[in-house]
Amino acid sequence: MKHLPLFFDLVGRPVVVAGAGPAANKRAALARSAGADVRQVTVATAEDFENAAAAFIATGDENADRAARHLARNARVPANVMDRPALCDFIMPASVDRDDGVVAISTGGAAPTLATLLRGRIEALLPERLGALARLAQTFRAQATALIARPAARRAFWRRLADGPAARLALAGDNAGARRAALAELDNARRGVTPGGIAHIVGAGPGDPDLLTLRAAQLLQEADAILHDDLVPAPILARARRDAEFVAVGKRKGQVGWRQRDIEAEMIRRVRAGQTVVRLKAGDPFIFGRGGEELDALRAAGLPVSIVPGITAALGAAASAGIPLTHRAIASSVTILSGHAADDAPGGQTHVVYMGVTEAASVRDRLLAAGVAPRTPVAIIENGTRPDQRISTGVLGDLARLAVSHGGPALIVVGDVAAFAASTESPQMAEAS
Ligand SMILES: C[S@@+](CC[C@H](N)C(=O)[O-])C[C@H]1O[C@@H](n2cnc3c(N)ncnc32)[C@H](O)[C@@H]1O
Repeated sequence: MKHLPLFFDLVGRPVVVAGAGPAANKRAALARSAGADVRQVTVATAEDFENAAAAFIATGDENADRAARHLARNARVPANVMDRPALCDFIMPASVDRDDGVVAISTGGAAPTLATLLRGRIEALLPERLGALARLAQTFRAQATALIARPAARRAFWRRLADGPAARLALAGDNAGARRAALAELDNARRGVTPGGIAHIVGAGPGDPDLLTLRAAQLLQEADAILHDDLVPAPILARARRDAEFVAVGKRKGQVGWRQRDIEAEMIRRVRAGQTVVRLKAGDPFIFGRGGEELDALRAAGLPVSIVPGITAALGAAASAGIPLTHRAIASSVTILSGHAADDAPGGQTHVVYMGVTEAASVRDRLLAAGVAPRTPVAIIENGTRPDQRISTGVLGDLARLAVSHGGPALIVVGDVAAFAASTESPQMAEAS
């Protein structure tokens, strides 16, 4: 190892940035993002370095870089000089930033492009909300130390917090659910009780393993058991942890297979036994996937459950065949129907309206004119799946009023299923109350 990786606390401390071009500005922004008090100068003087914690030199001119480096050394301020490794006291790693969770990658200055490449790979591996998980762990530090006496039990608690149901709920954006799960973990660890598991109802997409979502791929690596449908092909199952238990629970049309209630009971039994269960379904679990029933069953049993959407067959197959399902000149709506709806459901219809919030009154009037009842449930989902997701719920007759408070990108869901949505509930999450 050529350089020792260290994480530098710069909060409130002066940091000199010498240079005014894009590279210097980038370093200034980086230092500011770490809380530094940035002094950015075009031509550095000795005074600029007084009491500074660090210096970034990126003037773009070799003589100016050397002069600034000299001043930094005289003031005993460690300096990084862009693209001049021989002048550097420290080098800048490529970093993957997830709020409080940061990964720094270095090749000792030998191959920055390789470091960038590695960063891309690690970016894909690390969940976006890692920082939320780090903060959750921080809030439990004092309590864990005070309440869990045995060091081995305390270690097990931290492992579970980093890798168990609370972690998964935090990573999926359900902070309240994560906190409840972490409190349950703490209580279990304190009392020496076997911890519970979690179920993830996961969409596997249309069949191409590269069309799995990042979260689905991560969960396949974490699962103790994978309960999968027949339609999920072998190359997708091959992406799962080798020692996971695979259970084929497919219900082929016209053949005897698992009954829905048996699948739900099996999920519940395994979660209660402490397993991480992935219920893997073709496409998206909420499009003709019976994911709604499994969600209800897990909720009713008081067990933690998350939903991971997948690319539904309609979208995957259409893209693969080169069919734009909407086309500005030809089609402005898509209907997704089941060929055997009559067997499964009374035929209720769901409308999902894109770009409808600013036209809410007209959307309402058109749907009413088409015969949809004014008391039909509606949900407006703004910034769906993002940290700032907001959901309003009500009935079609009230749509225009509900829409007033929504300004960001939003979908309007109209139909009896919209009643499943909880106002401003966390993204895609449902957790036992
Ligand atoms: C029970 S539904 C499950 C739908 C799935 N949940 C989804 O979102 O795509 C099964 C049907 O989905 C369709 N389907 C699933 N995968 C498909 C694929 N790769 N290509 C075409 N159709 C597919 C077929 O019509 C199949 O009979």
